[in-house]
Amino acid sequence: MLTGKRIVLGVTGGIAAYKAVEISRRLVDAGAHVVPVMTAGAEHFLGRTTLSALASEPVHTDLWQHPTTAIPHTKLGQEADLILVAPATARIIAAYRIGLSTDLLTNTLLATRAPVMICPAMHTEMWEHPSVVDNIAVLRDRGVHIVDPDEGRLAGGDVGAGRLADPERIVAEAIGLLGPRDLEGVRVVVSAGGTREPIDAVRVIANRSSGKQGYAIAAEAAARGAEVTLVSTVDLPAPAGVRLVEVDTAAALQSAMHAAADTDDVVVMAAAVADFRPVRPADGKLKKRDGLPEIALEPTPDILAGLGAAKRPGQVLVGFAAETDDLLANAAAKLAAKHLDLVVANDVSAPGVGFAHDTNAVTLLRPGAEPVEIDLASKRDVARAVINSIVDIRRGTRPDH
Ligand code: CTP
Repeated sequence: MLTGKRIVLGVTGGIAAYKAVEISRRLVDAGAHVVPVMTAGAEHFLGRTTLSALASEPVHTDLWQHPTTAIPHTKLGQEADLILVAPATARIIAAYRIGLSTDLLTNTLLATRAPVMICPAMHTEMWEHPSVVDNIAVLRDRGVHIVDPDEGRLAGGDVGAGRLADPERIVAEAIGLLGPRDLEGVRVVVSAGGTREPIDAVRVIANRSSGKQGYAIAAEAAARGAEVTLVSTVDLPAPAGVRLVEVDTAAALQSAMHAAADTDDVVVMAAAVADFRPVRPADGKLKKRDGLPEIALEPTPDILAGLGAAKRPGQVLVGFAAETDDLLANAAAKLAAKHLDLVVANDVSAPGVGFAHDTNAVTLLRPGAEPVEIDLASKRDVARAVINSIVDIRRGTRPDH
């Protein structure tokens, strides 16, 4: 993903400096060479040794001394593919805006043509101060990639906007900036989570889908340039750049998916749809004193089959197959019956696979092609393999495995 990419990770003086360690580890895991640069302020919050240990080389702090070059102030920025500042304080943002170079990081920010990502973190009062708002607007206008902070707990127990964005999101955005943009201009809709079918005013028939695999596919598609709609039943924030449509029941999911599929180029049904729903949900709450209820069930529509029947030429339709037995035969049957271009099959009885796990192991099946097995991997890695396959289908290429 980031193999061969050189990223300068600038760390400035805020409580969130400790999260730079996690960001560095994730960037290195994704294949990047991470060059850590700390400001004097950052050293109040984070030990050099810690960051050095989880980056690709020792921390740089000094404008005047460098083990291999006499001119570190220009060298680091010239060689970089990306400069990422996390956390970025109000001070570094202001200095960068006016072009003030006083230390190694501010010099590096000026002596580069690489893209720059700024991840602000500060107290809400500071983040909302007109001078910071103005500086951020100017940087954005210049094409600097700003990763907006989250709302949440801040130093000292305060709560509000200004908390450093989640390291996972920061790294995803870095990958989005540097990774392949092979879905630029492509419209993708993904469903995620399990549907909830009402029994009465308070009870539902649900399933254990966490939605994580669908979210990972939406995030990966967006990072590769697609315009993504995520139709979701779960209460998780939308990945960066993704439009979220919240639904609950199979019926609501069905109409949201058809509305999107009318215009979109790629349709991915990762949601776990209830196969049965109560025929007549009670308006109020069923009372114990009325005895055991008899709940008559009816089948829900097979949304994916409906999308297959309405498929437009050139549209790519992807389904999932959750199986416990005869994985390949059952998945192949779903591929044919629902007119799919790709089915992502998983053995949900295997350890670490499927619902509620952060990992998954899947087999990708395309009509007339050998199955491709993806061994136990993170859901983001599985998402990458699914998107690679979708890109191949759109290009008309066969799997090379
Ligand atoms: N699916 C759907 N609508 C349903 C049931 C399933 O759109 N009412 C979709 C799922 O989103 C998934 C695919 O169909 O992409 C396969 O779902 P799965 O539960 O594995 O299979 P089913 O078709 O429901 O068949 P079975 O439960 O008998 O295995």
